[in-house]
Amino acid sequence: MLPPTLFFLLLVSSSVLIQPFEFVRADVLPFTNYPNDFVDPDYIVARKFANTTGDAQASIISWADSLSSYGPWSVTQKPMVAPSGNKQDYMSWAPYWWPDCSSIKNTTELTPEQIWVTCPYVNRDGQFNPDRLTINDIGAFFNLSDAILYNALAFSFQNESSSVHSRNIVKFMNAWFLDSETGMNPNLNYAQMTRGPGNGQLGSHTGVLDLKGFVKIVSGILILRKRKCTDWTAEIDAQMIAWAQKYITWLETNQLGTDECASANNHGSFCFNQLAALKLLVNDIPGSVTVGNNFFQGIYQEQINSTGDQPFEAPRTHPYHYRNYNLAAMITNARLLKYADPTSDPWNHTTKAGTTIKDALDMTMTVDPNASGEGYAVAEIFPNIAAVAATYGDPDGKYVAFLAKAFPEYASDATFLWDQPLKGGSVAEVTATNGTTGSSTVAGASKRTSVALRHVVVSVFPGVIGAILVVAVVGW
Ligand SMILES: *[C@@H]1O[C@H](CO)[C@@H](O)[C@H](O)[C@H]1NC(C)=O
Ligand SMILES: *[C@@H]1O[C@H](CO)[C@@H](O)[C@H](O)[C@H]1NC(C)=O
Ligand SMILES: *[C@@H]1O[C@H](CO)[C@@H](O)[C@H](O)[C@H]1NC(C)=O
Ligand SMILES: *[C@@H]1O[C@H](CO)[C@@H](O)[C@H](O)[C@H]1NC(C)=O
Ligand SMILES: *[C@@H]1O[C@H](CO)[C@@H](O)[C@H](O)[C@H]1NC(C)=O
Ligand SMILES: *[C@@H]1O[C@H](CO)[C@@H](O)[C@H](O)[C@H]1NC(C)=O
Ligand SMILES: *[C@@H]1O[C@H](CO)[C@@H](O)[C@H](O)[C@H]1NC(C)=O
Ligand SMILES: *[C@@H]1O[C@H](CO)[C@@H](O)[C@H](O)[C@H]1NC(C)=O
Repeated sequence: MLPPTLFFLLLVSSSVLIQPFEFVRADVLPFTNYPNDFVDPDYIVARKFANTTGDAQASIISWADSLSSYGPWSVTQKPMVAPSGNKQDYMSWAPYWWPDCSSIKNTTELTPEQIWVTCPYVNRDGQFNPDRLTINDIGAFFNLSDAILYNALAFSFQNESSSVHSRNIVKFMNAWFLDSETGMNPNLNYAQMTRGPGNGQLGSHTGVLDLKGFVKIVSGILILRKRKCTDWTAEIDAQMIAWAQKYITWLETNQLGTDECASANNHGSFCFNQLAALKLLVNDIPGSVTVGNNFFQGIYQEQINSTGDQPFEAPRTHPYHYRNYNLAAMITNARLLKYADPTSDPWNHTTKAGTTIKDALDMTMTVDPNASGEGYAVAEIFPNIAAVAATYGDPDGKYVAFLAKAFPEYASDATFLWDQPLKGGSVAEVTATNGTTGSSTVAGASKRTSVALRHVVVSVFPGVIGAILVVAVVGW
């Protein structure tokens, strides 16, 4: 139930802010959860955004606001407790593992709790066991990490030292990490538990993947730091560094952590994502550089073969998904390393077979997702294309042509803000926001204007969404 004050504010904000000419503009995309990304905080705080990124900014603000309506999140919200008995321990169940009760000589149906500890569990790669959602620490962390990133970006668009968006971040970070009652313990001892009689009481190393979105959180926090956000105080920063240091120690010394980073496939790539980002969070820049170099000199070497294919992903049950998934992780590792060490050259770093991230994308672009029954997964390639085009250039226009055909709204996607330069987007649309067209101003002023105008437009949406939520909750 909503607190009365919030209820009142939503009503007020919706009645004050809704202005029809603004609301008809519908170039805000629905939220998409991308597997991972690192957004260079220096690029964001410089605020030199292309004047074609207005729609992307509008999506970002809208995503920040809609995600925030689900928070704050905490591991203590789940309806059960990890085997430790400590409600502040993170927990999830291995998504592809299923009970096989055929060998159990029960005379009646087993309760779920009995199945978890009695029946052996077997792996069916790619087949989600729906009961993994009974505990949803993972879904909460996904939303948390996206909320931190998009709220930080939304905060950065305004020239303020504090805003509703930065205050959201502090609220969410406190609830998930720092609060003495609701904060998560810095370990993943119970992530992706496989259950069953033999292995039911501990997580598996694959569970480390659950927290890959830590990169997004670190992006957001670096933005708040660099913008000298007054909500992100020295005290909360120190507390978060202390938390991250303990978690880094767990990742680097617990066998679940070390096994995950030693994985040859996407699990390893995402594990390096987390470690490299966490080292930035604790201000250990050389440590982050070492992690990045270890990735590119290590498991990356075997990940892309001479045809640009990814031999550890292609044989999986969802090869189109897994190729793009690992691409996202490789791209994120490259971005992190380039940020930590601007003199590094991860994008040109070749594998043993002489290939690069670009070769892996080019190969994946030739794959028909329908061939493996993965038509639903086609969108997973879009942010990878945008990242590669923005980084390596698009001299023959093939990347933009692919996007324009398969995803005509790509310039309204959040990633279009930081995957620049990338052709597309329309300045005219930005000026049309204010009910004017063809206004010509000097470029610098126009950039600032487009951002300011976007705030007017997008500030409509929380009110509208709020009103809809109120209707849903109260039953109008
Ligand atoms: C034993 O329990 C399993 C899991 O609940 C159930 O599928 C099966 O039908 C039960 N067997 C008998 C004989 O009740
Ligand atoms: C996460 O956000 C999605 C909307 O993007 C929502 O459907 C879901 O319920 C949220 N889950 C949690 C745990 O916040
Ligand atoms: C941002 O705010 C500061 C302090 O209020 C002001 O000096 C500066 O001119 C502002 N910058 C822009 C781009 O509006
Ligand atoms: C590259 O990997 C793919 C997928 O495993 C495989 O089909 C192909 O034969 C490999 N190519 C070479 C040259 O090894
Ligand atoms: C996959 O199949 C769907 C439905 O048949 C079709 O609309 C889509 O264009 C196909 N995708 C590709 C990349 O061929
Ligand atoms: C690859 O190396 C070349 C030559 O040093 C450089 O010009 C180019 O910018 C590099 N590519 C990327 C994507 O960094
Ligand atoms: C919209 O444009 C008009 C004319 O250029 C200007 O006077 C007005 O301040 C603008 N509104 C906003 C909200 O920026
Ligand atoms: C948008 O930016 C481009 C590139 O900087 C510039 O050439 C163009 O004049 C700008 N358009 C407007 C309307 O400001």
